[in-house]
Amino acid sequence: MTSVPPAGPREGAGQPFRTVHWVGDAAGGRLRMIDQTLLPTEFVEIDCDDVESVWWAIKRLSVRGAPAIGVAAAYGSVIGARSRGTADAATVREALRTAASRLRTSRPTAVNLFWALDRMEAVADAAPPGDGPALLDRLLAEADAIAEEDRAMCRAIGRHGAGLIAAGDGVLTHCNAGGLATADYGTALAVIFSAHEQGKKLHVFADETRPLLQGARLTAWELAGRGIDVTVICDNMAAQVMKEGRVQAVVVGADRIAANGDSANKIGTYGVAVLAKHHGIPFYVAAPSSTFDLSMPDGSGIPIEERDPREVTEGFGRRTAPEGVGVYNPAFDVTPAALITGIVTERGVIGPVSTETVRAVLAAPPASS
Ligand code: MRU
Repeated sequence: MTSVPPAGPREGAGQPFRTVHWVGDAAGGRLRMIDQTLLPTEFVEIDCDDVESVWWAIKRLSVRGAPAIGVAAAYGSVIGARSRGTADAATVREALRTAASRLRTSRPTAVNLFWALDRMEAVADAAPPGDGPALLDRLLAEADAIAEEDRAMCRAIGRHGAGLIAAGDGVLTHCNAGGLATADYGTALAVIFSAHEQGKKLHVFADETRPLLQGARLTAWELAGRGIDVTVICDNMAAQVMKEGRVQAVVVGADRIAANGDSANKIGTYGVAVLAKHHGIPFYVAAPSSTFDLSMPDGSGIPIEERDPREVTEGFGRRTAPEGVGVYNPAFDVTPAALITGIVTERGVIGPVSTETVRAVLAAPPASS
């Protein structure tokens, strides 16, 4: 499992790798995922068959990206639900609750994690008393549905967003919002993949995305695998590349979008949005409806994860700052809606972005395929 396969699509099907999926039945199966910390030099899949290993996989970013975290947590809760046996539905339900509350502590920003676990708990709550194995099967079916719906939403995002990109455009993206961040195909990268599949020749600038380099390691791998021209730049080069006239659109993903459209995404996204505004370049966010948190009126309440300082000072395997200096390592920032030209969802494009337009587009019927 250690050779690195190309990231390109199979003929007539999805991507050739499976970011996160279930293997086996509900009673004995396990969660399999790509260990993304090792890409692009090693392709290794890891199996999880207890809640703690799922928690760690999310925490350490073996699986990452808001929708993929939600899918992993849903399957992780199935593993937890069977941990005390399946003698009756009440036992399964209580074990699921314990697993869900543990998984909720893995990462705070991506709302898809909480959304997926809420769905799993709602299924357990609605189950009739009695049959434990039947509830476990029902929970696995719900986790499968979450993954399948994510695939469909990503394809629809691609369809809705492709028209925003013109042939010959330079497109800048930040972090990784591709197939590795979702069940399949991605969000921001879905827009790019879909435009590319329509025959538009594009050139993508991938911000390397310090400190963990999701752009250089993961986005560049996915784009190159699909034969899309990609150039990796350090994060601090985006202004210069824009000033040189090489960027006609910016497309990024999101971890949580408030009711007014304020969007949390990987640290550095806000800066890119400010730069895009200055240079008159449209700035798009691409995300499924599962990434919206309508309980938050604006982005000021979105919890921002702070990560280990060593990601900044020792991220390249050697110390790059003196021992003992202070480090601040927020993993996300919030881009105000005023800087966002449009939000591409599976239900259509929201733009201009406001509480009213967010509400109107999210009320549209969901994607059919
Ligand atoms: O810390 P990560 O790698 O999980 O951060 C991921 C991002 O910020 C993505 O852009 C976001 O989750 C959207 S993924 C479709």
